[in-house]
Amino acid sequence: MMKPVKKAVFPVAGLGTRFLPATKVMPKEMLPVVDKPLIQYAVEEAYRAGITEMIFVTSANKRMLEDHFDKSPELERELEAKGKTALLEIARSVAPSDMTIVAVRQSQPLGLGHAVLCAKQVVGDEPFAVILPDDLIDAEVGVTEQLIRMREKNGGGSVIAVQEVPREDTNKYGIVSLDKDVIVGMVEKPNPSEAPSNCAVVGRYVLESSVFDALENTERGAGGEIQLTDAIAFGLNQKQTYACRYVGLRFDCGSKVGLVNATVHYAKKQGILA
Ligand code: UTP
Repeated sequence: MMKPVKKAVFPVAGLGTRFLPATKVMPKEMLPVVDKPLIQYAVEEAYRAGITEMIFVTSANKRMLEDHFDKSPELERELEAKGKTALLEIARSVAPSDMTIVAVRQSQPLGLGHAVLCAKQVVGDEPFAVILPDDLIDAEVGVTEQLIRMREKNGGGSVIAVQEVPREDTNKYGIVSLDKDVIVGMVEKPNPSEAPSNCAVVGRYVLESSVFDALENTERGAGGEIQLTDAIAFGLNQKQTYACRYVGLRFDCGSKVGLVNATVHYAKKQGILA
């Protein structure tokens, strides 16, 4: 029987240098879009997809991310005493009682693939989602849920979210070659002249646990980092891996322009901006 996806890995050990000085002390994933930190958008997307165990891969100075999902009895008492019920509900909803947060450390920033490998013991022999909080995607049905639905429809296998990007941008993404929905090749950050397509991987994956074996045998690749793309590419012959052309609006909040655009988008959605 196909195992359900109950765990999500959030690689949040990066340095976030593009947002210095804001990220000198504060993790990049705590940057807010209007009134909610990026990590919370990502965790809510996972929770809505039926995932209850959230695994943060963190590094030094990232304690704030775990703290954010703790209960805050003092704040709750204060809001309750003042009758601020709407705010009380917002504070409480951050951490539903059936959700657990587990943090594992990545002691050195050796790349996204290495960060995912750090979660191996906690994930165990189960399919799992990988969510990059930098990629904020506004979608009616969350993208993680879209990937899980595609996996269920196909009776298992890994599923990766993809979108078409301008050819000149292929060197910023993992790029896939496709046979209909099936991924037959994958390469990290190819030059536009060498890219097999303009179909790019974005920060949502549902993976089989066999990817950990591949990661253990993956050498450093593009940028001298252990790349998740290389490990997935290694397993393409053994496991069906599907591309999901998700429905949703993506903002690259790892860049300043992306964070500003996301802020404007959500502010309009909430009626704060005309
Ligand atoms: P980025 O390439 O955006 O790197 O990582 P970064 O360090 O976060 O940001 P800049 O470029 O310095 O501004 C993509 C994702 O992979 C995670 C990051 O936390 C981010 O979610 N990551 C990257 C790790 O967890 N560990 C790594 O070794 C590298």
